[in-house]
Amino acid sequence: MSFPFDRPRRLRRTPALRKLVRETKLHPSDFILPCFVVSGKGKKEPIETLPGCYRYSPDELVKFVREARSLRIPGIILFGIPDTKDAVGSSSWQSDSVVAVAAKELKNSIDDIAVIADVCLCEYTDHGHCGVYADGDVDNDATLELLAKQAVSFANAGVDVVAPSDMMDGRVEVIRDALDDQGFDNTAILAYSAKYCSAFYGPFRDAADSAPKEGDRSTYQMDPPNVIEALKEIQMDIDEGADMVMVKPALSYLDIISEAKAIVDRPLFAYNVSGEYAMVKASAQKGWADEKRLTLEILTSIKRAGADAILTYHAPSAARWIIEDMTK
Ligand code: PBG
Repeated sequence: MSFPFDRPRRLRRTPALRKLVRETKLHPSDFILPCFVVSGKGKKEPIETLPGCYRYSPDELVKFVREARSLRIPGIILFGIPDTKDAVGSSSWQSDSVVAVAAKELKNSIDDIAVIADVCLCEYTDHGHCGVYADGDVDNDATLELLAKQAVSFANAGVDVVAPSDMMDGRVEVIRDALDDQGFDNTAILAYSAKYCSAFYGPFRDAADSAPKEGDRSTYQMDPPNVIEALKEIQMDIDEGADMVMVKPALSYLDIISEAKAIVDRPLFAYNVSGEYAMVKASAQKGWADEKRLTLEILTSIKRAGADAILTYHAPSAARWIIEDMTK
């Protein structure tokens, strides 16, 4: 059947008809909110490169997350910004690490919030690399046991999920074994499986003070042109015991999300990263873009590509807009 009998515009005629035939619908439960946590009390420090985002002390974080939960956002992911850094990132696995303290406080104060902790060393090392750094490179196998220690420490603080973002080979298996050994068989693993060596992480590294002091992350994070390698990384993480897998960044990697969706048999998440957020905020601040429409279009595209949930700094504002639109 073709023109004039088939007229697709018939179903675009009114807002109600468009709603009726809409194929992808965003909901606040699609979002996971990234949170930066520092030590102390009463702190809410603005992050210049991420307008609208803050570094919170645990007490202030509870207020922020409570508000997010009331907007129907089910989960958050914690990034720790420690007071002290050293060569191996030892401040990350102390029982009173910023993440451990924040996780406990969140779990004690808020009903039914999924708490994820990012597992990586770059925020905690003085050289800014994601593992043990020697002779100009990161030592894969020496890093694994440190990641496992960190994951166990976060599990001990009560997080529901640990999310290794370091891109070392074999880390999911080592972390799973360590968690099981310590009795944390119910702590899930969200693997940053296809994490690319991206220029889109710039604002995050300012926020977390985690940029490498020398060199870059190209020997451990993935090369942006590769697809087959991403599918292999995802399959390896699943075989090693990942409960959920992730593609990161999202917007420049929608093809990877879509290809991954076709092969994975577990939840697939995507990280709408700091640089993607900052571009939207900067253009909106300049008056060059409609922030609400741009944000919802981007998040819809990530879901349409196949993401089951999206880690995004837009989560609170997007949730507010979605709830607002639902009542229309
Ligand atoms: C830690 C980590 C990074 C991000 C998440 N976990 C930074 C990096 O790899 O340098 C980036 C998140 C973002 O840009 O929003 N390894």
